Amino acid sequence: MSDRLAIVVGASGGLGRAFVARLAAEPGWSAVIGVGRARPDDWPEDPRTPFLAVDLLDETALADLARQLRERGVVTLLLIATGLLHDAGLTPEKSMRAVSAAAMLRLFEVNTIIPSLVLKHLAPLLPKDEPSVIAAISARVGSIGDNRLGGWHAYRASKAALNMMIRCQALELQRERPRAVCVALHPGTVATALSAPFARSPKTLFTPDDAAQRLLKTLSQLEPADSGGFFAYDGQPIPW
Ligand SMILES: NC(=O)c1ccc[n+]([C@@H]2O[C@H](COP(=O)([O-])OP(=O)(O)OC[C@H]3O[C@@H](n4cnc5c(N)ncnc54)[C@H](OP(=O)(O)O)[C@@H]3O)[C@@H](O)[C@H]2O)c1
Repeated sequence: MSDRLAIVVGASGGLGRAFVARLAAEPGWSAVIGVGRARPDDWPEDPRTPFLAVDLLDETALADLARQLRERGVVTLLLIATGLLHDAGLTPEKSMRAVSAAAMLRLFEVNTIIPSLVLKHLAPLLPKDEPSVIAAISARVGSIGDNRLGGWHAYRASKAALNMMIRCQALELQRERPRAVCVALHPGTVATALSAPFARSPKTLFTPDDAAQRLLKTLSQLEPADSGGFFAYDGQPIPW
C-alpha cells in the first residue's frame, strides 16, 4: 500500500494536538501532518509529524497545500478540528437580542467556511478504491433536533451549517469514493481554551487526549453506510 497520511487541520488547538499525538503513536501512518494558520512555538521537531502553516481562508494556499500532500502520499484520514466559540470581542449570545452580524460572520467564517474550503481542496485527495475517513469536529449544540435550551445562537447555527456541508460532502463521496466515511462528530465537553469559560461544572469534562481517543475509536467503528451522519464520542448517532 502507498504512503498513508493522516491530516489534522486545526492541529494547534487542544483537540487537534491530541489527535496528532494519538495518531502518531499508531503504526501504519507514514506521517501525521498537522495543519493550521500558525505553527505553535513548541510544536515537536519530528519528521513524522510536520506542521504545515496555511491561511485556511486562502484558496490559493489551500490548493498549494493539496499539491504538497499529493506529493507526500495518499490521504486516508482527514480530521478538521478548527473552531471558534468566543474570543476577546465575542461572547456566545444568551438571547436573540444579543445577535449581531459581526459575530455571526466571524463564527460562520471559522466554523463553517474554513471546514468547507478544506473539504473542497483536500477531499479530492482521498483514494478512490481504499477505505478512508473524513471527520469534522462539530458540536451537539449544532443539532437542531436536540436544541431544547436555546442560546449560543451564532455558534449553534454555524455548526448546523457545518453539518449540512458534511452531509453534502458525504453524498458526493458516495458516488466517487464509495468506501469513504464522512461524518460530523461531537467530542463531548473537553478541557481546552474553547470550553474554558463555560465548562466549570459539566457532568463530564474530558481531557483532550481522552476525547481524541474516544473519537478515534468511534471513527474506527463506522462503515461507509454511516457516512453523512452525526455521531457523539460514545459512538451514538445525534439527530440533525
Ligand atoms: N472543547 C469543547 O468542549 C468542545 C465541545 C464541542 C465541540 N468542540 C469543537 O471541537 C473543535 C476543536 O476545539 P478545541 O476545543 O480544540 O478548541 P481550541 O483549543 O480553541 O482550538 C481551536 C482551533 O481552531 C483554530 N482556529 C480558530 N480560529 C481560526 C481561524 N480564524 N483560522 C484558522 N484556525 C482557527 C485554532 O487555531 P489557532 O491555534 O491558530 O488559534 C485551533 O487550532 C472545534 O470545532 C470546537 O467547536 C469543542
